[in-house]
Amino acid sequence: MSILPTLQNRFRDALGELADDSEKNKLLELIRRSTDPKFGDYQANFAMPLGKRLGRPPREVAAEVIERLDIAEFCRPPEIAGPGFINLEVRDDWLIEQLTAAVADQRLGVPKVARPRTYVLDYSAPNVAKPMHVGHIRSTVIGDSLCRVLRFLGHTVVSDNHIGDWGTQFGMIIYGYKHFLDKDAYWRNPVEELARLYRLVRKLSDADEHPEIGPAVLGETARLHAGDPENLRLWREFMPICRQEIDRIYRRLNVSFDHTLGESFYNDRLKQIVDGLIEQGIARESDGAICVFLKGERVPMLVRKQDGAFLYATTDLATIRYRMETFRPDAILYVVDHRQGMHFKHLFATAALIGYGDVELRHVSFGTVLGDDGRPFKTRSGDTVGLEKLLDEAVSRAADIVAANDAAKPDAPELSTEDRRRIAETVGIAALKYADLSHSRTSDYVFSFDKMLAMNGNTATYMQYAYARVQSIFRKGNIDIEAIRNGGAAITLDSPAERALGLELLRFAEALDLAVLDYRPNLLTGYLFDLAGRYSTFFEQCHVLRAESKKLRNSRLLLCDLTARTIRKGLELLGIDVVEKM
Ligand code: ARG
Repeated sequence: MSILPTLQNRFRDALGELADDSEKNKLLELIRRSTDPKFGDYQANFAMPLGKRLGRPPREVAAEVIERLDIAEFCRPPEIAGPGFINLEVRDDWLIEQLTAAVADQRLGVPKVARPRTYVLDYSAPNVAKPMHVGHIRSTVIGDSLCRVLRFLGHTVVSDNHIGDWGTQFGMIIYGYKHFLDKDAYWRNPVEELARLYRLVRKLSDADEHPEIGPAVLGETARLHAGDPENLRLWREFMPICRQEIDRIYRRLNVSFDHTLGESFYNDRLKQIVDGLIEQGIARESDGAICVFLKGERVPMLVRKQDGAFLYATTDLATIRYRMETFRPDAILYVVDHRQGMHFKHLFATAALIGYGDVELRHVSFGTVLGDDGRPFKTRSGDTVGLEKLLDEAVSRAADIVAANDAAKPDAPELSTEDRRRIAETVGIAALKYADLSHSRTSDYVFSFDKMLAMNGNTATYMQYAYARVQSIFRKGNIDIEAIRNGGAAITLDSPAERALGLELLRFAEALDLAVLDYRPNLLTGYLFDLAGRYSTFFEQCHVLRAESKKLRNSRLLLCDLTARTIRKGLELLGIDVVEKM
């Protein structure tokens, strides 16, 4: 059971007629975890604003609500403190019962949702034919993590990689292929040669000396869209090469999709969309272009240019329609850069006018990855940073850390060269992903290898280390943890550190609920970090292998085990692997 949401529901009932639904929602946000165990485990602080609005003493309002509050099965009787704080303490016997159930449960006590929804998740979506760069990390890892958490909670998720496989970048490589192809290089390594052509043509078309190239590239793109056989043939030749390139990175990131329906897939549905918009009176002609004018918006949304070309927005409308017809989702989430905020605002407003049905359309936007200088992360020469290079560097730095760690062990070295290599790959990629996921998605963050690979702090390295440390305790004590788990050993929570760890373990379900509420994986990383902290305190204060009695030792081993399994599951839901030794 998810403690905080349950408390909120019970308080919602107990508030009764005292507030309307919208006020209740605000008041219920004032139920939080306590910052100090003196004030219980959770605190409800709504009686002050509510009392003020009602013109009644907050303590009296608090008492009235508590009178109707039904939480006895998992909480002790609430206490009113100070001006009207309501302090809530979870019952120890309930904690023990729930922890015992979690030990025996593959899902660690996390229930599936009562009302599963169907989500389409649109994430990663690079424009292929150009190398993936640092900007693609966020969409890819945030989307992947949301996908995993939603599925774990019991929702149906259709992941769809809406790749840009039909845009001007193909005009560029077609033009480059026709004018600058190095045949041998293409034969040896097509991916690299296409990337070179892309960069070359892009540079030339930006330069003033070649004013003819820009229009020529647009011409090639237009011919492709019009079905020119030669350009279509080249496009068909390039696509598998481009797909191979991104798939290699996805394999390394351990990210996969149910569908990869790129922009090209919708090409022959675009005309129909525009015709429909005109027919419904939603779009009209303006200066030769077809536009949707939306109430309250200064600029219209273009769906067809003067020259007849369709736009990004047109494709996205066709995509919504296809998804609604094919997957019948309750929600479509777009994990896309915040700079596309306007596009999605217009898109969703237009979709509502068309009437695609009852669906939550949501732009899950995110901020920019910055360099040390506080500007978007670039290489020294000012180019965007290639994603593959970043992965390589993270892994190589992780290798140094793994080697140093291993060498510092009393019985060093513990790991073979192959072990070290494998662990470095896992640790390096994990660091990169976790660093991204642990920042609030709506903020920018500064990219730093040193920070993301730190052994202390809210990093994957620290979490993986915490996990590996538990495994090393089991090895050291020759513990058959499975046998203890299945042997019905009892959990006790006599010391404050044990109780705090136990409560934190049970907050896993709550953390997952909160993480999908506003689609924020950083609420899950934050939870895991808190959990690791509680575990550290517990481990400092409570002997495990040298516990005073066998009963106590088994109870503490179970707490260690549940901690490790929760960390492993939590990391898995972030798309991150653990290692048994580090
Ligand atoms: N390919 C686009 C870009 O790189 C992102 C696509 C996001 N998804 C969507 N349905 N618009 O900017």
